[in-house]
Amino acid sequence: MNITGIAALSDSELAEIISSDAYDADLVAEADRTRREHYGADVYLRGLIEICNVCKNDCLYCGIRRSNGALARYRLTKEDILGCCENGYALGFRTFVLQGGEDPYYTDSLICQVVGDIKEKFPDCAVTLSLGEKGRASYAAYRRAGADRYLLRHETANEAHYARLHPAEMSLRHRKDCLFALKELGYQVGSGFMVGSPWQSAQNLVEDLRFLQELSPDMIGIGPFIPHKDTPFRDFTGGSLKLTLRMIAILRLMFPYALIPSTTALGTIHPQGRELGLKAGANVVMPNLSPVRVRKLYELYDNKICTGEEAAECRSCLERRIVSAGYRVVTDRGDVKRQ
Ligand code: 5AD
Ligand code: FES
Repeated sequence: MNITGIAALSDSELAEIISSDAYDADLVAEADRTRREHYGADVYLRGLIEICNVCKNDCLYCGIRRSNGALARYRLTKEDILGCCENGYALGFRTFVLQGGEDPYYTDSLICQVVGDIKEKFPDCAVTLSLGEKGRASYAAYRRAGADRYLLRHETANEAHYARLHPAEMSLRHRKDCLFALKELGYQVGSGFMVGSPWQSAQNLVEDLRFLQELSPDMIGIGPFIPHKDTPFRDFTGGSLKLTLRMIAILRLMFPYALIPSTTALGTIHPQGRELGLKAGANVVMPNLSPVRVRKLYELYDNKICTGEEAAECRSCLERRIVSAGYRVVTDRGDVKRQ
């Protein structure tokens, strides 16, 4: 199998690579070569601010789904969020990612105010939003307010599989429409999927790759599915380290220019998960800037790491990890480098 020409392989050839561990060593070596060719040893930092754990959706895998009555809910104020950015700026972050559940409390006008204030105070920083599915007019308003990037994972590109992971009122069609609208509005767009979610097949993962080829996103975030004790998926097995690393390497080879994070979920299933993710082709890490008092409450899955550490601790911990893996931290905005 020609691993360097992976984008040209057929669906069945890709499925074979995804299902086998025979190619792993070659995939990781080639992925590292490719990332160095496009991005050198650089790893970009994104400061993640988890603005709220209130969500009107009920995705079956997610710990902050509306049906989880065991969870205390929180919302950060505009002042809280700006405080996190100030702290993050001092630590060298030049991208702030505002992530949260789909919470009607954050009206378009409030989101625009927050984005506008961050851009005014920190004009050299990029603002990334990760606030779920919204109407086109809302996305357009956030963009006018200064938002640069938007993250919205498609989760799975197979309709039937999507329907097993989500309640009936959600649809893959709508998710895709949102992603294409974001692109048209000029956002740098990120999508992605969970690895090892219930019922996922190798063929489903091929469909994820094909959808990403169609979308051509700037950022691609993937991580292992990890069961959460207060969700209907509590008894399912989580995604494996091996398969997640294999998918990261495949993504790097298929999307050489992409910004690919080594995710917290990967760090949660293995003590060196994030280092291994970087070595498999990832070039972004997203340390947590949320106030420590709310950290534990943004639990999308069980045993999430870094819920007790201050931002500064995560910042230095990650720097050590990045250097130990053979890479270096960059503190600029870290925009995508397309040819
Ligand atoms: N395990 C792993 N990832 C999860 N996410 C949500 N719930 C889980 C889980 N149980 C991911 C989804 C979402 C992102 C913010 O977190 O892919 O898009
Ligand atoms: Fe948070 Fe290591 S990154 S403690």
